[in-house]
Amino acid sequence: MKSVVIERPEVLRVQERERPQPTAGQVRVKVRYASICGSDVHIWHGHNPFARYPRVIGHEFFGVIDAVGEGVDAARLGERVAVDPVVSCGHCYPCSVGRPNVCSALQVIGVHLDGGFSEYALAPSGNAYKLPESIPDRLASLIEPFTIAANITAFLNPTGQDIALVYGAGPMGLTAVQVLKGVYGVKQVIVTDRLPERLAMAQDNGADRVINNSEISLAEQLAGIQPTLIIDAACHPSILPEAIALASPAARIGLLGFSGDTCAITQQSLTSKELSLFTSRLNSRRFPQVIEWINQGHIQPAKLVTHTLPLSQIEQAMTLFEKQPRTCCKVIIEMD
Ligand code: NAI
Ligand code: MN
Ligand code: ZN
Repeated sequence: MKSVVIERPEVLRVQERERPQPTAGQVRVKVRYASICGSDVHIWHGHNPFARYPRVIGHEFFGVIDAVGEGVDAARLGERVAVDPVVSCGHCYPCSVGRPNVCSALQVIGVHLDGGFSEYALAPSGNAYKLPESIPDRLASLIEPFTIAANITAFLNPTGQDIALVYGAGPMGLTAVQVLKGVYGVKQVIVTDRLPERLAMAQDNGADRVINNSEISLAEQLAGIQPTLIIDAACHPSILPEAIALASPAARIGLLGFSGDTCAITQQSLTSKELSLFTSRLNSRRFPQVIEWINQGHIQPAKLVTHTLPLSQIEQAMTLFEKQPRTCCKVIIEMD
């Protein structure tokens, strides 16, 4: 089979590899479509602290179960599935409280384990979610990025009366916008970014107002509007202090970033407004919820897709994704 392997940082190859055999409890998926995420690019360039090399990348993928390991019902052969990349132990403290996404022994498919930019991929059978016919093959890999938005919004508990502010109109910000509007019916969703093209995508994804903060500060343009719910999907360390200053009393702030740089905040800035600060990593079993949202028409994954390329052009696809944020959002990889 053909697989996209990062042999070591900066060395990407499409390699011929032996088709893996599912072990007990696993399924093998014949991958049909996958999508590129920022973390794939980070593993390629050696900027993902969790990655181990060599690695078959790709954690957003869809396919059909074509082999099952011992203990897995053979009736699953032929099932159309989206794969949750979060592999957890099931018995540590976080797992026992429903937070397998921060399992003490967390393994992420495409990061710690070989992933889905490959003609075949393995996953625990419980991670392979059967899809309804209403979700087309070519959009099914986008369930995973929406689970990130599902996870953070579950903490933030959005309501109709919120005024939400989303930093960043990349894939993460845009999925958050769709979920805030389409699932939770948030009254006003404001999105800020530095790129006008990205802000246009935010409008297309349901934002009520967009603000370009590249020249005039966000504070000035908000002119006293105090967001009651803020999601940082741009993730520069300078954003949290600004978000805290702009937030309404009793607001909730959600963080998605992994920067190792410090940022300066005071206890007073948080406590005086009794702000709640939530962080969110990957997803805790939110595939069924997102599948249902798509099925019900609450969210539209198609709005994120700007390009589709074959597996053989993976390097061009990843370069496009990385270097052309004005024209490129989600890139779908089609197996040759
Ligand atoms: P992206 O790079 O495509 O989008 C970020 C957007 O933020 C860009 O459009 C950029 O122009 C904008 N931006 C940058 N600085 C800004 C600022 N100061 N103010 C306003 N806008 C600004 O990235 P993507 O894929 O949307 O991911 C966003 C972040 O989410 C990344 O840092 C990534 O590491 C993180 N992430 C976290 C996950 C989690 O589970 N916690 C999962 C996936 C991504
Ligand atoms: Mn992703
Ligand atoms: Zn665990």
